[in-house]
Amino acid sequence: MPIDLSTQVAGVKLQSYLMNASGPQCTTFDELERIAHSNSTAIVTKSCTLLPREGNPEPRYQNLPLGAIQSMGLPNLGYQAYLEMIPALKAMNKPVVVSISGFSINDNIKMVSAFQKSAVDLIEVNFSCPNIPGKAQVAYDFEQTDQALAAITALGDKPIGIKLAPYFDMSHFTAVANIIKKYPVKFITCINSIGNTLVIDPYTEQPIIKPKGGFGGLCGDYVKPIGLANVRAFRELLGDEISIIGVGGIKSGIDAFEYLLAGADAVQIATCLEKEGPKCFARIEHELKAFMAAKGYTQLSDAKGKLKPM
Ligand code: SIN
Repeated sequence: MPIDLSTQVAGVKLQSYLMNASGPQCTTFDELERIAHSNSTAIVTKSCTLLPREGNPEPRYQNLPLGAIQSMGLPNLGYQAYLEMIPALKAMNKPVVVSISGFSINDNIKMVSAFQKSAVDLIEVNFSCPNIPGKAQVAYDFEQTDQALAAITALGDKPIGIKLAPYFDMSHFTAVANIIKKYPVKFITCINSIGNTLVIDPYTEQPIIKPKGGFGGLCGDYVKPIGLANVRAFRELLGDEISIIGVGGIKSGIDAFEYLLAGADAVQIATCLEKEGPKCFARIEHELKAFMAAKGYTQLSDAKGKLKPM
């Protein structure tokens, strides 16, 4: 029985449900080309800033038994470079998602305005990078989230979405959903890594990454239950009008299926992509299809958002 994984995010049709996250292996043109040639259904760029950045000092990424801790600090080529790459990326016949991460509302206005005039398909504004010393995560400042959304959603017709930090309190889900509903936000991506965690090496008596005194974003299996809860909570609060992209700890077809039950329209893969490379998309897609086939499901809508009550 053929399994149809086609979906859509903010009205943009996708051949399948799996894409790369704005994270590892999507900074340079060569990396993005490798994503294009994989089974990732879209090409998502690394979050860009106004100017190119080297990122934080090394070591800034360390694998852990169940994932990773990282404090990359947004190493990227600067938004102009991604703007110039868009025609070549579009020629690879996949939707292109640009991720932007300005250090102020004005930065984001400048970059969103520029990408609104480009051929990019979706604009994901990252409100949740935890790794810039001295910069708070916009997603945890509800007043700033409101102001930023008012500004960036008024700049054109191309679908805008935001990448959210993980929330842990029901009142925060409600507060953020109510802000999102005030504006034409077309999709949300949740979650970013769990920011400002600390892993200590007891032998060296040091943190295992250098930036920010060792504080970094926790990724991988550790964060999957939090990602699932965030997708589920926002699906219930936002209804079906706003697309939701799930991220966090997806390394198998069954992980991807769990996000589908929680209500995700599509999912992004980061830590597993870093460990395995772009071939992970074909493997996870194959596993997801096999799991759905065993259940007698033939399309995503057979299970999307259909978490069963106990
Ligand atoms: C980073 O570059 O520090 C990670 C990006 C993010 O957390 O949004």
